[in-house]
Parts: sequence; structure tokens; C-alpha cells
Amino acid sequence: MDESELLRATAERAIAYRAGLGRGPVNPTADPAALRAALDGPTPQGPSDPAAVIDALAGAVEDGGLMAMDSGRFFGFVIGGAVPASLAADWLVTAWDQNTGLFAPSPATAVVEEVAGRWVVDLLGLPPASSFAFVTGGQMANTTALAAARHHVLAARGWDVELDGLAGAPRVRLVVGEEVHVSVPRAARLLGLGSRTVPVAVDANGAMVPADLERVLAEHPGPPTVVCCQAGNVNTGALDPVGELADVAHRHDAWLHVDGAIGLWAATCDPSPLPGLDRADSWSTDAHKWLNVPYDCGITICRHPDSHRAAMTVAAAYLVQAAPGTDRDPVDWNPEFSRRARAVPVYAAIASLGRSGVAEIVARCNAHARRFADLLAAEPGVAILNEVVLNQVLVRFLAADGHEAGHDARTRAVIAAVQRDGTCWLGGSTWRDQAVMRISVSNYVTTEADVEASAAAILRAARSVPG
Ligand SMILES: Cc1ncc(COP(=O)(O)O)c(C=O)c1O
Repeated sequence: MDESELLRATAERAIAYRAGLGRGPVNPTADPAALRAALDGPTPQGPSDPAAVIDALAGAVEDGGLMAMDSGRFFGFVIGGAVPASLAADWLVTAWDQNTGLFAPSPATAVVEEVAGRWVVDLLGLPPASSFAFVTGGQMANTTALAAARHHVLAARGWDVELDGLAGAPRVRLVVGEEVHVSVPRAARLLGLGSRTVPVAVDANGAMVPADLERVLAEHPGPPTVVCCQAGNVNTGALDPVGELADVAHRHDAWLHVDGAIGLWAATCDPSPLPGLDRADSWSTDAHKWLNVPYDCGITICRHPDSHRAAMTVAAAYLVQAAPGTDRDPVDWNPEFSRRARAVPVYAAIASLGRSGVAEIVARCNAHARRFADLLAAEPGVAILNEVVLNQVLVRFLAADGHEAGHDARTRAVIAAVQRDGTCWLGGSTWRDQAVMRISVSNYVTTEADVEASAAAILRAARSVPG
């Protein structure tokens, strides 16, 4: 089989896989031992027919080993699907196989990235001159933003962190909401800032309280400070009051970063539930979550292009780099050197959806989340623990004995029963020391019928687990 035939056959296989989503169980059914038996073996010592390799590989993987993450009944973690234009564009990215670190070797993908970045900034209502970077996900988007922040607050103290590192530098204080996502302190760890953070109180739904930020910053004035808030709590979906937090942070000369991996796209709605979002200093988001672009793609956006560039840029004699102020080399803005043209699927997603389409996905997922909450809350012994302000629902299944330990045990048992059943898939979490079922509606394909069938399956599972 030549390459064209192999690609055609593989495309047919991929199309069949996508067409089958939603027909079978959502959960993986394969036994890990069976997967290893099918995939493992001695290191291949010589060539094999590529078509046979793909057949064996895909046959083994697709035989119950995949989670139907792109089906309309997958509600685990915060995982979006892939709108058709972005999926097709992603195939082209692989076929083009461009290294998009520099402009000169791949001008078209670099221009696509320039345009996609500008569109994202515009859709989110952020300052038009903001810089951006397309990275692997929210973790690296937070890391890139915090690297820009680290540069900025230390340069203001006369310290060149890129040249001299952190030994001997003024200690950078990282102030975060009590509900900060783990990827933020992890980013701080990677950047040598350490994961020791100063906590700020949050309200009942997990949103940061501006008055408490004011208290924290006023209590210890002086150190270079980076404040991290979030748009979209990973459990409750709560949106921090970014504009107010930005005003407080700036009064104290601090940088405000917004981790919007989940919820930044809500800013496309009219009215935006994120007033004052544009007053922050940096933002991160995921395209592979709510924009429904295939894995992987996160985005960093920065109000201070000079600080962003200073934190990331690199030069070498053998590279063909654009003169300042001319073309845009992604390597000046990204932590990666060689990289995939991951802005291309974002370009295609936005081109196909438009502003109204993105806002519609957000609004529809939020409405589905509210419907889930209503359907489940109508059942005796089921409590919704969060205020459903976005696409997230936290559900607790109560035990007859009224004890917290009993509620925890029943909730975990219901989650396990739902996962075994396969009608839909969702996971668990802990909210305020209480075990919860966590529902995230992030896929554009989810329909009201999916929500109703899934809620019915959850209630069936709950009835099967004694209270
Ligand atoms: C609020 C928040 N920030 C950051 C991340 C990390 O994003 P990623 O998994 O794309 O690296 C997540 C992941 O769910 C998240 O919910």
C-alpha cells in the first residue's frame, strides 16, 4: 500500500470511529491486561508494512480501549470535543508537518497563527495590542504567563531574571485564591518561584473575594507580587470578579493573572459574565476545552508584550529570525522551540463558528448544566452543592443515616455505578470536604436528549445504591 492509500484507509477508519461515537458505551471496556497483550511485544528489530502496523495499532486501541470523550454524553474533567472544521484542520496540520517555531520556514502557518491570536484577543474583548502564544494547554499557558509576570515584577526592581536567575533576587510573592487550580503553583514550581502561595478567601461558590485581596496586599506591602485569579473554578465553575481584582492588584502595584482555562470563553457572551476582564495583565485559556478544538492547545495572552517577549525570546546564529517589528516568530513568545502549527485548528474553529457560534456553545453548555441540576435535584436524597453559574454541576447523594461519611460513601458508589453503566461518564471530586459527583458540560455536540438520558442513568444508578 502506498502512502496515499494508507492515508485514505486511515481517514476512513477515523471517520468510522467518529461516526460510532455515542452508539456504544462511553466508558472504556477493555481490560488493561488485554490491551497490554494486544499492544506489547519485543522491540521491533526490523521494518513492517505500515498498513499492517496501523491496522494492528488501531485495532487494539479501538477495541474498547478508548473513552468516548467526544461523545455528547461524556462529562468528565473539563474536556471539549472538536468542531468539524478544527478536526479537519488538525489533520492538515499533521499532513503539512510544519515546524512553526519561526516565520521564515513556514510563513503561511505563522500568518494563520498571527490572525488566530488576534481573533482570540478580539473575541475575548482583551486589549488589542496584547501578545499571545499558542502552547500545549492550560498548564503551559499559566507557566508562560507567569514567566512574563516574573520578568515584569522583577525588572521593575532592577533585576534581570532571564540573565541572573532567582538566586539573590527579591522574593516574588504569589497571591492566589484558596480555590486556585493546581497548575498555577505547579507553574510557579517550574519557574523557580516555589509553590508557597499567599491565600485569599473565596466566597461560598469559590470565587475570590476582592476585599480579602485588599487585606492581604495591604498587610504586607512591598515585595514584587503576582496575583492569580481564575475564570472558571474546576469544581463549581465560579468566575472571579476579575475587574475588581485587577483594580485592587494594580493599586498595590501587583500583576494580575487570570487562569481562564475553562471559563475565559464565557467572555464571548453578551453581556459578558466577566466584567473588567480586560483590566488584568495576563490571561490563559484552553482551546481544547470550550472552544472545542482537538488536543492539544492552550493560549497565553499578555497585556505587556515587552515582558512576555523578554521572558521567552531566544536567538541563535543558525535560526532564520525576523527583524524586530516585521514578521512574528512564535519562538519569541513560546516556551517551545520546535512546535506543531497548533493555531491552525483554532483559526478554523473561529472561522467556522464566528463570535456567535462560540458564544452559543458556551450558552448551550451552561443551559445543559442547569438542566442537569434541575433534573437531579428533583430526586429525594440528591443535593446540588454549587451555584450553577457556568457548565459545572456538583452533586451529592445523601445517605439515610444523615452522616457525612455515609453521604461520601453513597456518592462515590453512585459515581462508580454510573461509570460501570456506560450511558454517560463523569468523575468525582471533593468540595468543602464533601465527596461530590462532578458534571462538566463542555462538548458542543451534547444535546438536551443526551442530558436527559444521562440524568436518567445517574438516577437509576442512585436508586441502585442503597441510601
Ligand atoms: C482552571 C484550570 N487551569 C488550568 C488547567 C490545566 O489545563 P490543561 O489540562 O489544559 O493543561 C485546568 C484543567 O482542567 C483548569 O481547570
